[in-house]
Amino acid sequence: MNNYIIEAKDIRKSFYKTKEKKLEILKGISLNIVEHKITLIVGASGAGKSTLLHILSGLDLPDSGEVKIKGIDIFKMSDDKLSSFRNKNIGFVFQFHHLLPEFDALENVAIPMMINGTTLKQANKRAEELLELVGLKDRMHHKPSELSGGEQQRVAIARALANNPSIIFADEPTGNLDSQNGEIIHNLFVELNKNLGLTFLIVTHNPQLIEFGDYVYEIKDGVITV
Ligand SMILES: Nc1ncnc2c1ncn2[C@@H]1O[C@H](COP(=O)(O)OP(=O)(O)OP(=O)(O)O)[C@@H](O)[C@H]1O
Ligand SMILES: [Mg+2]
Repeated sequence: MNNYIIEAKDIRKSFYKTKEKKLEILKGISLNIVEHKITLIVGASGAGKSTLLHILSGLDLPDSGEVKIKGIDIFKMSDDKLSSFRNKNIGFVFQFHHLLPEFDALENVAIPMMINGTTLKQANKRAEELLELVGLKDRMHHKPSELSGGEQQRVAIARALANNPSIIFADEPTGNLDSQNGEIIHNLFVELNKNLGLTFLIVTHNPQLIEFGDYVYEIKDGVITV
């Protein structure tokens, strides 16, 4: 066994602007993500970073190519199996946190666990622990609108950890934050990586974050360069 948690081979993806006009975004990307490490993907706006992240997590299909997560070919799974596999193995953090506005921080973290069949009591207990882990013990009963941008993003990280995933996908996690809050998020990622051995795959424009990467890849003209 190698120590790759994700193995992507020759991923191609095009979008059609019109019937005739094809935009080739990913032109044969092969990439291995090493377990327990932080991998960063950089590249210009429109280079295809989010598209690649969606394909690697099985949220979107490539035109061709193969993605294996923990050795399992995800595009050979049924939709149901894939979404439950994704729920168990992958946590997502986005640029905009997508927290549910009518629920407080604790509920936002507990809800994905309850969707996965955890009891209310257990889900609340773990949600409390996770919020404490991201430094928000005293903000548990605040709704998203009662939290700062950086705090909202930390709730989103606690939520991403809820189902104990082996890998966190983050798409511009600090894109919406000032540099001070961005740094809090970076430090949190590094801590989670060191202390829990979590694997991270992070898309970023943020030069501050780049120094934290064990591996940094750039997408340019549809291919990956180091
Ligand atoms: N569903 C779609 N239909 C048509 N074109 C799309 C679609 N999704 C993405 N694209 C195009 O594919 C290209 C890559 O998009 P993508 O979102 O992956 O870029 P990105 O590298 O994440 O950019 P950013 O840094 O701005 O987030 C863009 O030119 C975009 O317009
Ligand atoms: Mg993007």
